[in-house]
Amino acid sequence: MTSPFQSLIMIVDDNPTNVKVLFDFLRETGFRVLVAQDGESALEKLEQVCPDLILLDVMMPGIDGFETCRRLKAIETTQKIPIIFMTALSDSVDKIKGLKLGAVDYITKPFQHEEVLARINHHLKVHHLTQTLEQSVAERTAALADALEKLQHSQLQVVQNEKMSALGQLVAGVAHEINNPVGCVSGNLVHAQQYMHDLIDLLSLYQQHYPQPIGEILQKAEEIDLDYLREDLPRLMTVMKEGVGRIRKISTSLRTFSRTDSDQPTPFNIHDGIDSTLMILGYRLKASPDHPEIEVVKQYGQLPEIEGFPGEINQVLMNLLANAIDALEEAHQNRGFDAMRAHSSQIRIQTRQVNAQSIEIRIRDNGMGMSDEVQKRAFEYAFTTKPMGKGTGLGLAISRSIVTEKHGGQLMCQSRLGEGTETTIVLPLRQPTRELVRLS
Ligand SMILES: Nc1ncnc2c1ncn2[C@@H]1O[C@H](COP(=O)(O)OP(=O)(O)OP(=O)(O)O)[C@@H](O)[C@H]1O
Ligand SMILES: [Mg+2]
Repeated sequence: MTSPFQSLIMIVDDNPTNVKVLFDFLRETGFRVLVAQDGESALEKLEQVCPDLILLDVMMPGIDGFETCRRLKAIETTQKIPIIFMTALSDSVDKIKGLKLGAVDYITKPFQHEEVLARINHHLKVHHLTQTLEQSVAERTAALADALEKLQHSQLQVVQNEKMSALGQLVAGVAHEINNPVGCVSGNLVHAQQYMHDLIDLLSLYQQHYPQPIGEILQKAEEIDLDYLREDLPRLMTVMKEGVGRIRKISTSLRTFSRTDSDQPTPFNIHDGIDSTLMILGYRLKASPDHPEIEVVKQYGQLPEIEGFPGEINQVLMNLLANAIDALEEAHQNRGFDAMRAHSSQIRIQTRQVNAQSIEIRIRDNGMGMSDEVQKRAFEYAFTTKPMGKGTGLGLAISRSIVTEKHGGQLMCQSRLGEGTETTIVLPLRQPTRELVRLS
């Protein structure tokens, strides 16, 4: 803290006798003192120095004390310096005017030394306290804003982790459980198909060598429609094998989608992530009574494997594709039947390698798009235009945090109301190796 004895006082007065009296007295008391003869030279000097307090005469040639005060209050560097006006007892100046201009006090000539000193010290103290207070309020505000941001961030992290671990573990668990019985069915189907062919061959041999079987056999053959059965059974087998193959693919997709990430980045194929996410969202892409099928156009480029956290990237893809489907559904609800037929719902997914360091994924829908206002706020934490229970407004905020903070990439969005939206993810090919936090 500046002790009053080190404080710098500026005297602005055109009367040399007054100045001398004040100067000597203040110096004797221990202040550092600076003098200006009029308003203009005071303003000039204040460009170089910053006194702790100004004693300002009202009546001066050139700009008077009031005007000088008004100008000082308009300049950012000088507006906070306390100003005390000096007037002669005989002057009939408007004291209120000075105070309204921002001065803190008045002293009258001839000066009572004790009074002048008391007022100067009082205002120096108030000024110092105000500044300390302002600074600590500013520091507190900054600390609170920082804490709020950290809190929101960790909330995002919690939601993200919860979403991932609850859903992910369930999905991974189910996929794992399905895998064993499906493996059993598909493995045995191969043998069953072989046995079936063997039995059909054997039956053919019987028919060839015993063309006249006994009545009971003939009756049974008719009852079970043997000719049809022989034709249909191999077809059934083929369809069943296809079905099992599909279940296997779905379960692999579920496991790919719900991969739990380690704390080190791993190489992965982004197309696998997109395909497994599309497979999981498949039920929402199909035609339903109130909306036609959503066509997915894939334009995949040649991409190398990239490093990162595939489980989290899948979550980003899921959020972006779900947003596209929501936007298509909403656009659809606002259209008439003819417009619906003229306007097919489409999601286009393009991937390409941008340069030696990065790849890009563009997801474009021809849904309802966003207004400029919505587009500006879309990435905000908890911003949603969807009804309660449908959207939480976290999708894009979480996705941006995963892409930018976790992967050092970019997530951007371009949209036109009524025409559609394109979201672009840029991801670096390589990730810096992370320091492992070891618990000892
Ligand atoms: N493809 C898109 N087309 C049109 N509007 C979109 C699209 N993607 C996002 N938006 C707008 O941005 C808002 C925020 O999206 P975000 O994914 O963060 O939250 P949400 O989808 O509303 O809810 P959540 O994803 O948490 O379930 C949406 O409510 C929507 O208004
Ligand atoms: Mg969303």
